[in-house]
Parts: sequence; structure tokens; C-alpha cells
Amino acid sequence: MTKIYTLNEKSIAEAVSILKDGGLVGMPTETVYGLAANACDGVAVAKIFAAKGRPQFNPLIVHVNDMDEARAFAEFSTQDEIIAQKFWPGALTLILNRKEDCALSDLVSAGLPTVAVRIPSHKGARALIKACGFPIAAPSANKSGSLSPTTPAHVAQSLGDAVDLILADGACAVGLESTVVDCTGDRPYVLRPGGVTAEDLSEILGEEVGYDLGEGKGQDVKSPGQLLKHYAPSIPVRLNAIDLEEGEALLSFGGIKFMGVKDGSAASNLPDDMVKHLSKHGDLYEAAANLFAMMRALDKPEHKAIAVMNIPDKGIGVAINDRLKRAANS
Ligand code: TXA
Ligand code: MG
Repeated sequence: MTKIYTLNEKSIAEAVSILKDGGLVGMPTETVYGLAANACDGVAVAKIFAAKGRPQFNPLIVHVNDMDEARAFAEFSTQDEIIAQKFWPGALTLILNRKEDCALSDLVSAGLPTVAVRIPSHKGARALIKACGFPIAAPSANKSGSLSPTTPAHVAQSLGDAVDLILADGACAVGLESTVVDCTGDRPYVLRPGGVTAEDLSEILGEEVGYDLGEGKGQDVKSPGQLLKHYAPSIPVRLNAIDLEEGEALLSFGGIKFMGVKDGSAASNLPDDMVKHLSKHGDLYEAAANLFAMMRALDKPEHKAIAVMNIPDKGIGVAINDRLKRAANS
């Protein structure tokens, strides 16, 4: 049985000792649960790839407690400092050039000359990183290609005994992975949309920041996580549903009063286990926080597919639609 302990001083101390010994810990963050290892310990980082079944070419995010720790292994331009100042701690990951001969394992960067860095805002995550005294490599704590975990139970279901200890701190507040921004070129652009949008970045920098979400199919994409089929339930996902096929489960956004099923019945009469409401009032943040847990709940072999209602493509809705498109692409 995987150990799941409520996050507190005592469980953090145990997690620190596991991480120091090269083990793996399920770590809560404000975005999704991470699978943590000492980012300077190549063997421990290799265990992450094994536990997730993650392709070796897909690099990991390094989590730190403050800017000084980040500056020890990554190069920040003036512009990068401005972005970090504004959005850290928080759901934003910066891709920066690695400092040569830094203490990080090469495997963290999957051999690239760059590194992904983030200061999370989750207090427990920060307390853990601080107590460790070394940076923490942490991808989402799920099997590669499946849904990211937003509760401790999701981590246990997905990774089982491959994780030595899970620190439990309830459901993640944001519920979607961080925005990934490539800062290594002439101007920054968003590789993975999240709560911090390209518009937010443009406003701070006073110049247009675009998206490069990649239509990539393998190793040639800029961010390997852009692989098209990525956040995938095991049954089909159908987007922008305005009515339902028989046997489909419904992931709703806003009201469903006027939605019909093709057999002539009303969606509002579906049994509870066939409907989940991302947000009844059309709140995009609530929808983001619910997305992965609700997709999991509807991902049952007895359902023909998950039909998802249209989500407005603005603000964090861009990130929700990005994950949904990947889930639907099979
Ligand atoms: O919210 C999050 O970001 C969560 C929590 C645990 O922090 N972590 C997370 O990690 O989502 P992961 O490994 O599932 O996604 C990291 C993404 C991947 O798409 C990866 O390809 C990209 O960041 N990435 C990491 N290092 C990179 C690099 N050096 N260059 C380009 N992309 C990179
Ligand atoms: Mg992931």
C-alpha cells in the first residue's frame, strides 16, 4: 500500500528524508499534484521517468523556493526577472537557459541546454522544498499520457507503489498544469496555456506575447509535452456538444436545461453518474479546478463517450480547451 499522510510538519520531515535518500514523493501544488525527486540526483530523477513511463526526451520542471535558488542554475534576462517578479510564486513555468556546470541532473533537462523553472505558491510545497534545501524536479504525478492528478487519491491510483509517500492536502486549487513560457528566444511565447495567459504576459511586458502550442507529433516539437494525444481518458471525448448521443456521458458548462438526448429524452434527466457540471454558472476558474477530476469520474467503460459542452476560448478557457482538444485527439 502506498503511504498517504496528511501534509504537516511531521510528514514533511519524512518526505525530506525520503527525497534525500533518492526516493519519490507525491507533492501537492496549487496546479496539480507533482511527483517529486531531488533535481540534483540523476538516479532519483531517472526513477521519475520509470514510474511515469515517460519518454526520456520529455524534460521536467524544477521547483524552487525563491529566486536565489533559481538563479543558481538558470540564466534570467531583465525581461525574465520582470515576468518572475510579477507571477511568482504561482502557476507559471519559465523555460530558461541552464547555467553550465550547475548542480542539476542533466536528465532533468533531457539533454537540452534549457531548464523549466517554477516557484509554486502552495505553502506545503514551498515548506517541503525549503526543508529539503535542494531543488525539486516534479512532473505531474500520473502515468505519462493520462490525466493529471488533482487529489491524493488520483496519485495513488495512477502510480501505486512507485511513489514512496504521498503528502495529502486535498484538491488542487487551480486544477490545471502551469502555463509554460519559453523565454530562450528573442521574445517569450507560451508553449502550454494555463492560468497565466499570453494577454497577462503581454500587459506586463508591453509587447505582444503569442502562443506556440505546437501541432507536433514527436521529438521535433519545442516542448515535448505538446504531443497531441496527452491528457487522455480511456473512452472517446467529443467536443462542443450541443446535444447527446445515446449512451454518452455529459461534461457540462453552464445550464443544460435545453439540452436533448437523441433518443428524445432531456439531458437534465440523465442519472447522476452520467453528468458532471464543470460549472453551473459558467465560471471558468471553477471549471478548470474541476476538469480532470470530472473527466476521471466520467471515464467509465459503460459510457460510449464523454460529450463536452462548448467552453469559451478566453482567459483560462484557452487552457481548458487545450487540454480538452488533446483529450479528444485519439
Ligand atoms: O503545474 C505544473 O506545471 C505541474 C506541477 C507539478 O508543477 N507540473 C507539470 O509537469 O505539469 P509536467 O512534466 O507534466 O509538464 C512539464 C511540461 C512538459 O510539457 C514539458 O515538455 C515541458 O514542460 N518542459 C519541461 N522542460 C522543458 C524544456 N527545457 N524545454 C521545453 N519544454 C519543457
Ligand atoms: Mg504531465
